[in-house]
Amino acid sequence: MRLNFALIASIVFAVGLVSLAFTLYQISNERDKLNSELESRTVRIAEEFCINYYSYTQDSAREQIRYFADSISNQYQLSGIAVYFNPDSIVATNPSVFPYLENSLDYIAQSIIADTSIGNIVSVSGKEIYQYIKPLKQFNIPDRAIIFYSDAGYIDNIINGIWFRNFIRWFVQALFVSFITVLIIRWGIFSPINKIVGWIKAARIGNVEELSRKPPAKFLAPLHQEIVHIAKAMFEAKAIAEEEARLRSSAEAIWTPERLKIEMENLLQGKKMIVVSNREPYMHIHDGKNIKCIVPASGMITAMEPILKACGGLWIASGTGDADKETVGKNDKVQVPPDEPKYTLKRLWLAKEEEDHFYYGFSNEGLWPLCHIAHTRPTFRKEDWHYYKKVNDDFAKAVIEETADEEQPFILIQDYHFALLPELIKKEKPNAKVAIFWHIPWPNPESFGICPWQREILKGMLGADLIGFHTQYHCNHFLETVNNALESRVSWENFSVRMEGSTTYVKPFPISIAFTLKDYDNDNFSKVDPSQLLGEHGISARYMGVGVDRIDYTKGIIERFLAVERFLEKNPEYQGEFTFVQIGAPSRTLLKSYSDMVSTVEKEAERINWKFKAKNRKAILLLKRHHSHEEITPFYASANFCMVTSLHDGMNLVAKEFLAARNQNDGVLILSRFAGASRELHGAIIINPYDIEKSADAIKQALEMSAEEQEQRMKQMRQVIVKHNIYSWAADLLKTMATIQN
Ligand code: G6P
Repeated sequence: MRLNFALIASIVFAVGLVSLAFTLYQISNERDKLNSELESRTVRIAEEFCINYYSYTQDSAREQIRYFADSISNQYQLSGIAVYFNPDSIVATNPSVFPYLENSLDYIAQSIIADTSIGNIVSVSGKEIYQYIKPLKQFNIPDRAIIFYSDAGYIDNIINGIWFRNFIRWFVQALFVSFITVLIIRWGIFSPINKIVGWIKAARIGNVEELSRKPPAKFLAPLHQEIVHIAKAMFEAKAIAEEEARLRSSAEAIWTPERLKIEMENLLQGKKMIVVSNREPYMHIHDGKNIKCIVPASGMITAMEPILKACGGLWIASGTGDADKETVGKNDKVQVPPDEPKYTLKRLWLAKEEEDHFYYGFSNEGLWPLCHIAHTRPTFRKEDWHYYKKVNDDFAKAVIEETADEEQPFILIQDYHFALLPELIKKEKPNAKVAIFWHIPWPNPESFGICPWQREILKGMLGADLIGFHTQYHCNHFLETVNNALESRVSWENFSVRMEGSTTYVKPFPISIAFTLKDYDNDNFSKVDPSQLLGEHGISARYMGVGVDRIDYTKGIIERFLAVERFLEKNPEYQGEFTFVQIGAPSRTLLKSYSDMVSTVEKEAERINWKFKAKNRKAILLLKRHHSHEEITPFYASANFCMVTSLHDGMNLVAKEFLAARNQNDGVLILSRFAGASRELHGAIIINPYDIEKSADAIKQALEMSAEEQEQRMKQMRQVIVKHNIYSWAADLLKTMATIQN
């Protein structure tokens, strides 16, 4: 109201000021014009009078003069005419002229002396009179004058009329402009401002419904959109902050190595825990004259090693390093990690034909492609199957031997290499708690059904008390496969299989990495600029993407390269500015499908690099060798994004390791929807790796994502992995094992 009043007063004042200025100008012009019209009219009359004065009058004939002046005065509607001879001899047309004459005498004298006409307005008894004095000559000497009087009062009337009309105009204008202004303010300003205030309030209190309504006018749409974005960011930030606060306040809910150790002690009650896998966590190899110890590239090791480090125990695995035999002690055992021993590694030695048929053959040419639907045909050979059974048998014997004095050990079997092990162990040790965790996907029953020994494999696995997969989806596939292939009772209520008097539970345990609240908060930060890291490889580029994989046909490395190529084609401004670093560890290269894959990856990188070739520039930097975790971390920490494009993958821990390295909550994860991790990591850009066009767009989206959005997504994902870390995974699995009574 106050604002309205102030605005109206200002408008009235401003319009009034403008009107006044115009009126003053107009009046001054009008008055000048009227005055000069009156003057020129009187001058004309005076001229006419003087021309006729001498022809019609005689100087002495006063009556004649008066008569003549009278007729002129009447003809031109003058107020009067006077002829001045001297102060005592004045002829006037009428008596009303005499009061005027009193004012004129001084002017008359001036006019005669100067022999010049004088015209001006004088005020006589409140009347405005225009007098015009013209000197007359006798014998060429001015000695008399004629004075013409005209009423000038009409000039003031005209001027007053102008004042009046302009005042009315100002009043109407001011009224109209004020009215329109109030309307504009009300509908054009107050109403949208009220709307905006409403939206901001809705954003503040989280009223999503209010924000979801369409803006009332088109021009408000961008503002509305911005407020919606801000609100969204605020809600997310609030949710994240609440989640963080919750995590902090219930820090004991987060699993740590220390907590897992205590939990394990309670669960095991002094019993032994044995982990069995094919791949060993530490491999000793010759390096010139020295022996060095490396950690093989394996998601299974990334996950399991921190558990053993935290809780101790025994890990039985194949010794495959060329210096492994030289580094074991009694019973082929070695304490690891070498620098700070925490648990025991027992190595079993495979004969060459065992490695060929069990590892390369049945495991990696049979089961691996069978379980990964990645368009590489599985091959099943009788000989491979024979050795698969034999090696499973050998490992079972080793487990029995190690638990000879133990009634109820906890045996954690890893992966597809040992599908038969649970049954073999249980046969000898029915009271042992046995679980098998399948680190890779489980296909649909029809796909799995092509395996000639599917029934033996399923029976072998069902010897376990617990079978774990990464996702419920894989559990369902497994149960359907059992249902189709075996005489058994599958319960969909508690996801179990009852067969030959014992029950096996089939449950999802999404695996994770060693990432605790301490790691989450750790700002011991090793991030360097991508250009610096690339500079060390002779490349100058500002942006960097990273991919870390074993070179395996299931990882979608070629699809990833094609996406990089397409991205650079579609966005030429990034050519020379962007490099994709592919860290690829050669794997299973004795198999043709794998060695072919290595050369395809190399050729494809070369082809794409050639296409975008320029000095110091590389579209793809292929680092093809085994890298330690310490070597990989700087790439994780510095890249603008990490790309996981698996065509099929159980979980994919590269995705989680990348997140763990992002202490500053920046960077973007591009993640295949066919990796189990995509079920948990909703903050990633989820892609179908077969869709090259969309994957290329995802790269652009990642590189151009705002810092705020990166932070929101990153925090959300990092919180998922801190809550569901490998310690909580192990606790969950072991608790479930412990509660199963068979
Ligand atoms: C996958 C499997 C692991 C295996 C790893 C490396 O992650 O699930 O069990 O260790 O690949 O394969 P490799 O054949 O080298 O052990």
